[in-house]
Amino acid sequence: MRSHFCGDVRAEHIDQSLTLCGWVHRRRDHGGVIFLDVRDHKGIVQVVFDPDTEASFALADQMRNEFVVAIEGKVRARDAAAVNPKMPTGEIEVLGKSLMLLNRAKTPPFQLDEYSEAGEDVRLRYRFIDLRRQDMQQRLRLRSKASHFIRNFLDAESFVDIETPILTKATPEGARDYLVPSRVHPGNFYALPQSPQIFKQLLMVSGFDRYYQIARCFRDEDLRADRQPEFTQIDIEAAFVNEQDVMSLAESMIKGLFSTLIDVNFEDLPVLSYRDAIRRFGTDRPDLRFGLELIDIDDLMTDVEFKVFSSPAKDPSCRVAALKLPNGDRLSRKNIDDLTRFVGIYGAKGLAYIKVNDRAAGIQGLQSPILKFLPESVVEEVLQRVQAVDNDLIFFGADQASVVSDALGALRCRLAEDLDLYEKDWAPCWVVDFPMFEQTDAKTWTAVHHPFTHPSGSLEALTENPGQAGSRAYDMVINGYEVGGGSIRVHDPEWQKAIFKVLNLSEEQAEAKFGFLLEALALGAPPHGGIAFGLDRLVMLLSGTKAIRDVIAFPKTQNATCLLTAAPSEVELQQLRELSIKTNL
Ligand code: AMO
Ligand code: AMP
Repeated sequence: MRSHFCGDVRAEHIDQSLTLCGWVHRRRDHGGVIFLDVRDHKGIVQVVFDPDTEASFALADQMRNEFVVAIEGKVRARDAAAVNPKMPTGEIEVLGKSLMLLNRAKTPPFQLDEYSEAGEDVRLRYRFIDLRRQDMQQRLRLRSKASHFIRNFLDAESFVDIETPILTKATPEGARDYLVPSRVHPGNFYALPQSPQIFKQLLMVSGFDRYYQIARCFRDEDLRADRQPEFTQIDIEAAFVNEQDVMSLAESMIKGLFSTLIDVNFEDLPVLSYRDAIRRFGTDRPDLRFGLELIDIDDLMTDVEFKVFSSPAKDPSCRVAALKLPNGDRLSRKNIDDLTRFVGIYGAKGLAYIKVNDRAAGIQGLQSPILKFLPESVVEEVLQRVQAVDNDLIFFGADQASVVSDALGALRCRLAEDLDLYEKDWAPCWVVDFPMFEQTDAKTWTAVHHPFTHPSGSLEALTENPGQAGSRAYDMVINGYEVGGGSIRVHDPEWQKAIFKVLNLSEEQAEAKFGFLLEALALGAPPHGGIAFGLDRLVMLLSGTKAIRDVIAFPKTQNATCLLTAAPSEVELQQLRELSIKTNL
């Protein structure tokens, strides 16, 4: 139908006749001539109709935004005064000879260049129109390039692309399952996979040696800007590998992805231990684009009278830490009140601070609501430890260790964002040496990664003291986002049984849920390991947005609904009957 794309027409086409197809982006009537800006996925070109071409001129006058048209015309240079250097097609225009209306459009719910005023709900309700916008087009095209790059990379490394079931059995990754009722087995349910974890391990037992899949995963969990109920993993597994093998392969894949797609070249990724990450940054997904490290001061606070500090300082499950903000004196009392409310979200009961106005003036040079509770010598030691200088603002957290780490960890990111403290654009890293288990309550352990991760240490140590067990897991973090995670897996059924036992699964339960895996491990399973990257998160970073919704064609909202199709929705009673399901609503 067409000879050129609208966005591709340039000065080199002057005097050529061409046929364009696309949408009317805007119509302007300029005293005797009509301008149509015509848009396709490549961009916008200006088409002029003058009264000489009578029929087309009359039709052009009736064009409205988002009408679908085909135009035959001739390219000509714009008058010098009309050249638009901001538009790639701004040097030329097309003199329209004939105009064909291919389809009409009702008034769109929002203008494409005024989408931000429309609100996200409207954009998601009319996603097919939202996707006409250039930035959405570019992001989804970037996504396509990303999966293409990944496939090429892994194919070249002899990985085999194998599909695994979507209707399956629960695959525990820490979220709730989406369940699908079975018609032929009344009362029984499939689970949608939270990841292809168990199947990819089985493929290693089958001798495929190297597997990958760009796999859809489903998790019914609380949603955030970087989480969707269905999302896509670049899922990788290999046999006869150790941590170094998987990490170096994954690292070269990610380096290649960023350098090929956005010309960003990462140095070798630094490796942090989980402990150090929590100690220095308060989180196991540290944003290393800026400094602002947490500094522990428990040992300085054990004997002070200020109970808010001394009680946690004496309690091994607690933490007292400082966070120094250079030039923080510019923050007002109101700013600090806002930040105090902010850390409250993470459970912090307050946010003590010291402003250093004049370091040389000793205690007189400081401003703080807690000075009256602390001996001068202790304050001096704190200032020395954090290497305070004039104009610093030092924040303090004192509470359960997890509360302090979460609160100060989030505070450091908030300060970096609010005050633009970033020292670099990109800061990827590895986090390793995770604990194997964490305690949800006094008696219950859960796996920090998943229960198929190989613990470090001995089997006896694991059984006797699960809380101390480390794991052979690794996460890749970029700019504070966990983009990938994996591990070396258990390949010995005795180890796997021991892990299930720690997780409080009886032998019968373990057999019922994972008997097929235990059997496979007992039938010649090679040592193996792998990793999975979140494709949505990677593309979000590559395209510079802050929500994975922006890189998913048809995403769901924060409460897991699709505004476009209105899913989830009620179903016919008859369907429920066939499935032997009764709702009690
Ligand atoms: P994990 O649960 O860490 O590991 O998931 C791997 C990566 O998937 C991405 N991700 C998500 N992205 C968007 N929305 C979500 N709800 C979501 N959940 C996870 C993250 C994460 O790093 N089977 C293991 C991998 C392995 O051990 O090989 C797994 O699923 O970027
Ligand atoms: P209060 O004695 O409760 O008025 O607290 C004195 C100062 O300590 C205030 O600035 C509080 O914000 C701060 N504060 C209170 N509890 C904590 C805590 N758990 N961690 C850090 N600062 C706190």
